[in-house]
Amino acid sequence: MSFPQDFLWGSASAAFQVEGAYNEDGKGLGIWDALAEGHIRLNATGNVACDHYHRYKEDVAIMKELGLKSYRFSISWPRVVPEEGVINEKGIAFYKDLVKELTDAGIEPMVTLFHWNLPMWMHEKGGWLNPQVADYFEEYAKVVVDVLSDKVKYWMTINEPQLFAGAGYVDGGHAPFLKMPAMFGKITRNIMFAHGKAVKVIRERAKLAPMVGMAPTGSAVIPKSDSPEDLEKARFETYEGDGPNGNAWWADPICLGIIPEGLRNDISKEDLRIIHQPLDFYGFNIYTAQNFWTQDPKVNPELYDGMPRTGFDWAIKPESIYYAAKFHYERYGLPVIITENGMSNPDFVMMDGKVHDPQRIDYIHRYLLQLKRAVEEGVKVIGYQYWSIMDNMEWTEGYERRFGLVHVDFKTQKRTIKDSGYFYAEVIKANGENL
Ligand code: BGC
Repeated sequence: MSFPQDFLWGSASAAFQVEGAYNEDGKGLGIWDALAEGHIRLNATGNVACDHYHRYKEDVAIMKELGLKSYRFSISWPRVVPEEGVINEKGIAFYKDLVKELTDAGIEPMVTLFHWNLPMWMHEKGGWLNPQVADYFEEYAKVVVDVLSDKVKYWMTINEPQLFAGAGYVDGGHAPFLKMPAMFGKITRNIMFAHGKAVKVIRERAKLAPMVGMAPTGSAVIPKSDSPEDLEKARFETYEGDGPNGNAWWADPICLGIIPEGLRNDISKEDLRIIHQPLDFYGFNIYTAQNFWTQDPKVNPELYDGMPRTGFDWAIKPESIYYAAKFHYERYGLPVIITENGMSNPDFVMMDGKVHDPQRIDYIHRYLLQLKRAVEEGVKVIGYQYWSIMDNMEWTEGYERRFGLVHVDFKTQKRTIKDSGYFYAEVIKANGENL
């Protein structure tokens, strides 16, 4: 058995990273709009980004040309709810238009409700430290679900909670740039509570029968061999190895209703009733193996100088996607969607007017072969969203890190489909049989 016929071959983006139009048509400011000054490479901003807000028709036409079956994007909470209690009809209209453009092009829209750009008004009320955040998120989810669920079936509540909680509130590397490690348990609880409430809202109000999940980071440790002992060891490290950044910390309460040791003081049994909602798929973002994020050979002796790495220095570890899909499917029992996978590369338009990116073609090829291996062994994988459809605003790294299938010239906003975009189009056409 290979990839199923209705496999969701897609690509992904996030509102702050592509939309621009940061203060247009009634949009409110988010923490990445208002607090990031001084934290971003070369003082870049997301004010214009890829100008997708104005160019979405051109962008959807490119997606159609590539034959994408799905497009994962996020809704900007501050665009929809610019101030407490205020709903911005123009912001909503943008997403309705985008969704219509996608469905008219035969592309399945996959909506993420929260991809990090928290509204400033919510931040001023304490942001994710304030338990009320879950109620505000619930209200926002209602607005979005009511207007989009006649055409949107796939929903992801929250993108990479471990990343924005850890970087945003523990090490201060991401907005809102705070360092409050002692609050991590409370923040975890509030994020999970918001997730649970949003899942309930989607189930109760969606017009199309919904498919609901999340998009946490979801890497795995690659076992030394496939012996039962090595598999067990890798599984254990995959779930428990990274503590508060690990898979179990975030997914066990949500998917299994189990509270990890470290969260027992923060999550109550009552809370679990909201947090532990049935889900339809297990979405996860994956770039490298869990034990290869470190650059320190003392921590991981398998590291060596000069090993294959992406433009971001992330180790290229294709087997990680196989083991992650397998482990998560076995542990959580849900069909899997790869909600992000991809690599950055210093791409530019070459003398022939094209963007040749053989490294990315090779990366995608290797990772997809490993995903295919999982599918052939019976792991139910229903979609793969390449990160990202186009080069975009890479948070504190600004515009330096190009992940796109489509090159964006940030001076002119000209789009150029990269060789990898054409390669991916062939893969989609052949449903992965050409890999
Ligand atoms: C995030 C994206 C980001 C990508 C590459 C993920 O952590 O969800 O927003 O651009 O990885 O760094």
